[in-house]
Amino acid sequence: MVEHFAVRGGARLSGTVDVVGAKNSVLKLMAAALLAEGTTTITNCPEILDVPLMADVLRSLGCTVTVDGGTVSIDVPAEPGAQADYRSVSKLRASVCVLGPLVARCRRAVVPLPGGDAIGSRPLDMHASGLRKLGATTEIEHGRVVAHAEGLHGAQIWLDFPSVGATENILMAAVLAEGTTVIDNAAREPEIVDLCTMLQQMGAKIEGSGSSTLTVHGVTGLQPTEHRVIGDRIVGATWAFAAAMTRGEVTVRGVDPHHLDLVLDKLRSAGAHTDIAPGEFTVRMDGRPNAVDFVTLPYPGFATDLQPMAIALSAIADGTSMITENVFEARFRFVDEMVRLGADARTDGHHAVVRGVERLSSAPVWASDIRAGAGLVLAALCADGQTEVWDIEHIDRGYPRFVENLRALGADISRVSTDPAR
Ligand code: UD1
Repeated sequence: MVEHFAVRGGARLSGTVDVVGAKNSVLKLMAAALLAEGTTTITNCPEILDVPLMADVLRSLGCTVTVDGGTVSIDVPAEPGAQADYRSVSKLRASVCVLGPLVARCRRAVVPLPGGDAIGSRPLDMHASGLRKLGATTEIEHGRVVAHAEGLHGAQIWLDFPSVGATENILMAAVLAEGTTVIDNAAREPEIVDLCTMLQQMGAKIEGSGSSTLTVHGVTGLQPTEHRVIGDRIVGATWAFAAAMTRGEVTVRGVDPHHLDLVLDKLRSAGAHTDIAPGEFTVRMDGRPNAVDFVTLPYPGFATDLQPMAIALSAIADGTSMITENVFEARFRFVDEMVRLGADARTDGHHAVVRGVERLSSAPVWASDIRAGAGLVLAALCADGQTEVWDIEHIDRGYPRFVENLRALGADISRVSTDPAR
C-alpha cells in the first residue's frame, strides 16, 4: 500500500499540542550510550521510525536495545563491536554519530558512509579531521569510514563551520581522550547542550556547553545514566507557523520557548501575538501575515530545518519576502512543489524571493524530505480545495502523530492508503 495525506484547506487551527523529545537529540543520545558499559535509559523519546532504526544500528554493535513507547533502554556490553551493519546505517544518515563513541570506546570504528540526501551534500571532512587531531587515523575504504586509534589525546580543534554532527562526533570521542580538548567554533544548538548534559551525567568533564568553545577534560571511564530528551523545537515551531498561517491560536507544550526566541520574534514581526510561559508558548494570528525576511544560520540563527515553513508563510503573506539559505544548498528544491500550490516564488542561488498571494490552490505535491513535507502540508492548509501530499514517509520520520496532532487542532487532514497495483 502507498500512503498520502489528503489535506483540505481553510480550517483555523486552535487548541493545545504536546511536543515530545527532539529527533535530532535522541539519535545522538542513543549513540552516546555506547560510551559506558551497562544500561542507559532515555525517556521522552519521539515514536518515529528513526528511533528503531538507530536501535538496529546499536544492536549491530552488540547492544541489547528495548524501545517501549517513549522509553529506550540500551544495554552496552563491556566490548561493543566496532563495525556497524551496512543495512542499518544506510537507512539512517544520523547513524554516522556512532563514529566518535566507537573510536573512543573500541579504538576502532567501521561505519558505512550514509547515502546522499535530498537537502544537499553532507560531507564528513570536519568529523574526520577532528578525529585525526585527537590521534585517530581515518580512511574511506569500500564505501566505509574506517577509523583507528592507538590512544586518543586532547587537541585544539578549530571547525571551519559550526557543524552539528562534527561537533557531536568530536565531543563524544574527546570525553574519553587523555588530556584536554578545545573545540572552537563549535555548534551551539540546544541538542548539543542536551548531549553535553547527558555526557556530564555519565561523568564527562565538559565546560562551555551552549557556547562556541567547548573544553573537554578527558576521563578514563563513564557510567551509564538515565536522561530525558529535550522537547523538539523544530516540531514546536512547525505548530507555531501553522497557527500563524491559518490565523489560529495554538498553545505548544513541552518545548523550551527560549529555544525559539528568534522564531517567535519573526512571527511577531509577521503580526502574530505570542504568550510565553515556562515550557510552553501560545501563538495567535488575527489577520493575514505580513511579509518578513528570513536568513538561515547555525543556532541561535534561524534554523535551516524551518526554512520550508518560512517559505510557506511567505507564500500567503501580504508583501514580498526574501529567504536566504546558508546551510544546505539544495534545500530550495522543494520550492517547485510550492509553486505547484500557487506560490509566487523563485530562487536564485541561495536566495528565494516569494511574493505573497491571498490564497494558494490545491494540487498533488511530493515531499522530498521531512521539513519540506511539513512545509507543504502547512501550505495545503491555506489552499483552496483538497491537496494530496505524497512521499509522506519523510514526514513520518520527523513528526510523531503528525495527522493526529493536526486533526486535534481542527485541521482537515487524513492519511489515505492506496494500492498502487489498482
Ligand atoms: C543536523 C541536523 C539537521 C540540521 C542540521 C543543521 C541531525 C540528525 N540533523 O545535520 O536536521 O538541518 O544539523 O542545523 O541532527 N558540513 C561539511 N563538512 C562536515 C560536516 C558538515 O561541509 O564534515 C557542512 C554540511 O554540508 C552543511 C553544513 O556543514 O552544509 C551544516 O551541516 P551540519 O551542521 O553538520 O548538519 P548535520 O549534523 O548533518
